[in-house]
Amino acid sequence: MLRCLTAGESHGKGLVGILEGMPAGVKINLQLINAELKRRQMGFGRGKRMQIENDKAQIFSGMRKNITSGGPIALLIDNKDFSIEKLQKVICPRPGHADLAGLLKYGFNDIRDVLERASARSTATTVGIGAITKIFLKEFKIEITSRVIAIGGETSHRGIIEKITLARDGKDTVGGIFEVKAKGIPVGLGSYVQPDRRLDARLAGAVMSVPGIKAVEIGLGFGYSDKFGSQVHDAIYYSKEKGYFRKTNNAGGIEGGISNGEEIVLRACMKPISTLMHPLDSVNILSKKAAKAAVQRSDICAVESAGVVGESVCAYVLADVFLEKFGGDNLQDIKANYNNYLKRTKKS
Ligand SMILES: Cc1cc2nc3c(=O)[nH]c(=O)nc-3n(C[C@H](O)[C@H](O)[C@H](O)COP(=O)(O)O)c2cc1C
Repeated sequence: MLRCLTAGESHGKGLVGILEGMPAGVKINLQLINAELKRRQMGFGRGKRMQIENDKAQIFSGMRKNITSGGPIALLIDNKDFSIEKLQKVICPRPGHADLAGLLKYGFNDIRDVLERASARSTATTVGIGAITKIFLKEFKIEITSRVIAIGGETSHRGIIEKITLARDGKDTVGGIFEVKAKGIPVGLGSYVQPDRRLDARLAGAVMSVPGIKAVEIGLGFGYSDKFGSQVHDAIYYSKEKGYFRKTNNAGGIEGGISNGEEIVLRACMKPISTLMHPLDSVNILSKKAAKAAVQRSDICAVESAGVVGESVCAYVLADVFLEKFGGDNLQDIKANYNNYLKRTKKS
């Protein structure tokens, strides 16, 4: 239902995102989009680049007087640090990045040609587009949030700050875990009828597409592995006031590839940032001699920001499956479909 393309380099003129399939009649608040862009830039452990950039979205198409028209929405974000033509050649690939594989795949002799597009700078566009889908979902009282669960194994605020400081002082980096929650989700998004329609698969795939994410779990996730079935499955109850309900939510809101009406809960692990100020062994691609990996200006920890990107890709997927289920070209039509469905499912 939704289609999206992004374009842009880390130090190019700017970033572009095109979103197609947003219905007509949605009121888009640019301040909300910019607030999301700001959230992506924040978090303890971010690098100097984030102090240079002050991301603001411009919308070039797809709305009039802030109301969507149903046409493709083009979103632009300027790069303040536009310097791509002047930047030095990069010749020592960084382990953990697309540097070496990208160089060989595309036949470049400068890793700069890889890293400019492979950089997570493009997640600004992901967040901008995600913010539009969040605004759409809000019309149906669906809210998506994220929080940091752990950094380098530490779960308390103090431990987290200490861990990031330790990484910074040791010229190292650190990863962690974030959680995304979606509340207000109706029963019935996604489907078991085809593997590619499963909501869990679509959400996990989307979160895995965020740079640096190496594992995703839904609900109890890996925690299922050492328990008996009787300990983990969410028993079903019914009352006149609530209808069907659960007392637990180990499934994380999805059973059989379909939302079951509970909150969707997903966790993702981000690896430590790959650009190290005290670089690992690498090879000079011109001389083939041993060398240290390239050092670029970089974050020390970006788990909090990755959580914001995680929210955005989840919002996109949820808006997409929502439109599949209740779709129409106009927000009012979709609301009518949705309200009818809520009435029917409440009665059954
Ligand atoms: C918000 C965000 C910020 C990031 N910042 C950096 C960074 O400053 N330096 C870096 O080396 N990697 C950074 N990364 C991670 C890399 O983009 C990622 O590890 C790299 O592109 C390789 O992809 P992979 O880890 O998915 O294999 C960031 C990721 C996200 C989501």
